[in-house]
Amino acid sequence: MALGLPLLRQMDPEAAHRLAITALRYGLAPAPDAYTTPRLATTLAGLALPNPVGLAAGFDKNAQAIAPLLRSGFGFIELGAATPRAQPGNARPRLFRLREDRAVINRFGFNNEGADAIAARLQARPKSGPKSGTASGIVGLNLGANKDSADRAADFAEVLRICGPFVDFATVNVSSPNTEKLRDLQGKAALSALLAGVMEARAALPRPVPVFLKIAPDLDLAALDDIAGIAASTGLDAIIATNTTLARNDLASPHRAEAGGLSGAPLFEPSTRILAQLSLRLEGKTPLVGVGGIATGAQAYEKIRAGASAVQLYSALVYGGIGLVNTIARDLDALLVRDGYASVADAVGSGRSDWLAAASSISG
Ligand code: FNR
Repeated sequence: MALGLPLLRQMDPEAAHRLAITALRYGLAPAPDAYTTPRLATTLAGLALPNPVGLAAGFDKNAQAIAPLLRSGFGFIELGAATPRAQPGNARPRLFRLREDRAVINRFGFNNEGADAIAARLQARPKSGPKSGTASGIVGLNLGANKDSADRAADFAEVLRICGPFVDFATVNVSSPNTEKLRDLQGKAALSALLAGVMEARAALPRPVPVFLKIAPDLDLAALDDIAGIAASTGLDAIIATNTTLARNDLASPHRAEAGGLSGAPLFEPSTRILAQLSLRLEGKTPLVGVGGIATGAQAYEKIRAGASAVQLYSALVYGGIGLVNTIARDLDALLVRDGYASVADAVGSGRSDWLAAASSISG
């Protein structure tokens, strides 16, 4: 894929993304196994990960490239978002590269083939489980709601019911900015009710998978208090911080005014501050996954120091290619060695106070 990057960068971004998925499916990408060392191997909500560097949701929405993605070096991958019924998403163009800012804006709006089609692909993959992560890889699914659904909260439980038997974890995504009013479901009462429904659907699965919640970076401290409370009361297994942002600060690219969620380099600091604040509130009872703007091993390490047990990335792949995954894992390992950590778990939260000190820019 590295060889094809200059070409991909000149194409329409959505066409380039389709081509990247196709290249992965047909093995045109490098395929080393997940990079692992005794320091990088870790657990997240009971899932054994060969390394803590994961693929963020939205890259492989329809679960078309599971095995090749796992072979690209990720310690775990998150597919989707999947909605109960197939839907086309928003009108094109809906994906923009902000090259000068090393960023991306997307307003896809949960385009996907629907839970049944995605479940069929998931079912066909080599089986894994909490204890066999290194052998065949940890695969999660991002749950979404249909745009025209009469009961959006119920959609999350419905996707889990259909796809849950074939995944290792499921993420409730009420933080996408691209489905109108979806983020209203992050409010205390709405979120508690929604998660109660999801937990009920989980209890009915043959194997009760861990349930994660993915939050927006555009939340104030009071909302983070509520979310920490809900995590404890509903028994969430992890929180993923964060999704894309609606904020547009100091961007240089001509596409900066496009509507949608911004990801990549400009998201690194705000999403890491939210991560640290949430880590403080969760008191180590619920693990965190740090996402937003990671492009280097040093940035993955910084998320871990701010309180993340594992990390995910997407936008950096647009600029750096899939080969970046192994570089990040290797560099992260070297940083753990440098600082004398025997395992990544030992470094979690070690730099949180630095990030809390930077919290003044989050509105309280
Ligand atoms: C996303 N993201 C996303 N998140 C999610 O929970 N469900 C989804 O379907 C999608 N879809 C999606 C599409 C595109 C094109 C992008 C760029 C992003 C958000 C993604 O998982 C991640 O949270 C953010 O992009 C921040 O991480 P990066 O990209 O800065 O590493």
